[in-house]
Amino acid sequence: MKPARHIAMKYDWPAPEERFASRLQSLTKKSLYRRLQAPKGLDVSSNDYLGLARDDRISKAMVSSLTAGLDVGSTGSRLLTGERRDLEAVECRFAQWQQQEAALYFASGYQANLGLMSSVIEAGDHVISDALNHASLIDGIRLSKARLSIIDHLDSHQMEQALRSNEGPHWIVTESLYSMDGDLAPIESYARLAKKYGAGLLVDEAHATGLYGPQGQGRVAALRLQKDVVATVHTCGKAMGLAGAFVTGSKNLRSLLVNQARSFIYSTGPLPVLAPALEASIEAICNDPARRQQPIQMAKRLRDRLIEGGLEVGGGGAIVPVILGSSSRAMAIAEALQHRGYDVRAIRPPTVPEGTARLRLVTGGHLKHTDIDRLASDILDILESL
Ligand SMILES: Cc1ncc(COP(=O)(O)O)c(C=O)c1O
Repeated sequence: MKPARHIAMKYDWPAPEERFASRLQSLTKKSLYRRLQAPKGLDVSSNDYLGLARDDRISKAMVSSLTAGLDVGSTGSRLLTGERRDLEAVECRFAQWQQQEAALYFASGYQANLGLMSSVIEAGDHVISDALNHASLIDGIRLSKARLSIIDHLDSHQMEQALRSNEGPHWIVTESLYSMDGDLAPIESYARLAKKYGAGLLVDEAHATGLYGPQGQGRVAALRLQKDVVATVHTCGKAMGLAGAFVTGSKNLRSLLVNQARSFIYSTGPLPVLAPALEASIEAICNDPARRQQPIQMAKRLRDRLIEGGLEVGGGGAIVPVILGSSSRAMAIAEALQHRGYDVRAIRPPTVPEGTARLRLVTGGHLKHTDIDRLASDILDILESL
């Protein structure tokens, strides 16, 4: 048989590589090109709020579980061979800490939000979402095929209007402490509105877990609203120093997620060593109120120093956003700070809205007063010289 002849075809569109190159060029022109950069310098930007990513107690828990013979890999999805008793035990411990009936661990916060939104919200339901909600919440809501109202950031008045003027069933989706602005959502008033209009309240506690609440559980526990929420999401890659995320709520909610959350079902189970490490992280947070307070106090000190120097900065928790405007300006200031020995990155659209590129400073527990004062004075100095 003759080999098939390759016939070069002519198309009206450019080849994939040409299209990639032109898209990358356009990102570069707008100062939106991103490159991967390993940490270097004094950490003033990571989410390791409590320093637990470098904590001996947690690494020891991992190492001792490996030497005790725990498998390295989980070998399958949790509904198949990826399930482990240790994981279920840490989910029970997490639920008990949060004073909820049950918890389910996902491999990442992104997967947790995707799975939660797309399985509890049904097609045709009505969702009200804050304009600054995290991409994982937005993507999960899109997957649910619900009707969507987007309200201005933290606006409970618009929240009520959206509830009043749309047909249910309704869902309110919010972060408890916003990741890029550090401001606090009015979850008490959302809880009140949820009751009044029969809405389900879903709260992403990514940046509040470990810092707020009587044992560091988050803002929902701090406000004693556990019974008013349908679910909370607690990422473990931030204050907990590890990776993954717990969704907490009722036993039925957990069963629904196990049965219907595609990001849970169709993904390999987490590494077994994470279970003892997560347990160690929960204990480290529960038993150390002074450690939980420190990042918040340091952030206040940094805010005060910057405001004294004439800047307008808001934020809450351990997050201090310094809004700079254009992406090119934010890049230039971040680079100048990197040259002075700080690990700080410019945060640009689409992570934040157009015209609000910024430095997102984080005051982790490893920083001293002198670090904070020097950082503030370096920022003010760089801004003056530009
Ligand atoms: C508010 C919020 N939710 C969810 C996530 C996703 O968490 P993870 O990094 O574990 O995927 C993040 C992380 O950036 C976040 O800031």
